[in-house]
Amino acid sequence: MTDPQNEHDAERTTHFGYQSVPESLKAQKVAEVFHSVAAKYDLMNDLMSGGIHRLWKRFTIELSGARPGNRILDIAGGTGDLSRQFSKIVGDAGEVVLADINASMLKVGRDRLLDQGIARNIRFVQADAEKLPFPDNHFDVVTIAFGLRNVTHKEAALESMFRVLKPGGRVLVLEFSKPTTALLSKVYDSYSFKILPLMGKLITQDADSYRYLAESIRMHPDQETLKGMITNAGFERVTYHNMTGGIVALHRGVKP
Ligand SMILES: C[S@@+](CC[C@H](N)C(=O)[O-])C[C@H]1O[C@@H](n2cnc3c(N)ncnc32)[C@H](O)[C@@H]1O
Repeated sequence: MTDPQNEHDAERTTHFGYQSVPESLKAQKVAEVFHSVAAKYDLMNDLMSGGIHRLWKRFTIELSGARPGNRILDIAGGTGDLSRQFSKIVGDAGEVVLADINASMLKVGRDRLLDQGIARNIRFVQADAEKLPFPDNHFDVVTIAFGLRNVTHKEAALESMFRVLKPGGRVLVLEFSKPTTALLSKVYDSYSFKILPLMGKLITQDADSYRYLAESIRMHPDQETLKGMITNAGFERVTYHNMTGGIVALHRGVKP
């Protein structure tokens, strides 16, 4: 017979790629991945996507409706691709906060943007998407690009994003998703599980992190499931756009 007390005490598990790990371990394992890849992150992004990630990000900026004077939060902002563009749009009257949980990624992002002369209207904050350290109803736009997949409690993160957005504010979730055709799915699987880890090994001497990337994409909720999760967090008018045949999807929701 099972002891209900022990059952209660047993720690819940979650996935880290295809592995099942205690929930308390996932953040640490994700941290190891991003500490390891931070220095070569931008180079790998360009190589792996053939530069297409720039188009996915450009579309995210367009759909955000960001305007001069806006306050923008770029969660899991990493090396700052979105923050840099937002900084130009919001101007001196606005503010961009690049938040990331990982000190190595934040450092690469901060150094890169400062080198490009982007400093006046941007702040760098080390923060967990699940517990955002910002006031209620504070931002006009909140983005998370290729970040939600790595978060242990995605519902908590979506609720936290909802809380810090102003009414009328927009959330944009850019993330890998489910290819829309079986043929593309097959080609993409071979690429992800054979070529990506090999590229990771050659360029970062770290095949495991890129194997995690491929596996974590497969474990992430598909387009419709994520749409339901964003709606459950309280957002309205939730829509998504498939890009590159659904390899990536951009979800958008509005806080009522
Ligand atoms: C794949 S990178 C994306 C970086 C950037 N947004 C981009 O699109 O290039 C994922 C980022 O998510 C961050 N991250 C992972 N878990 C997080 C969490 N719980 N809260 C905030 N950031 C997190 C990582 O440190 C990493 O910088």
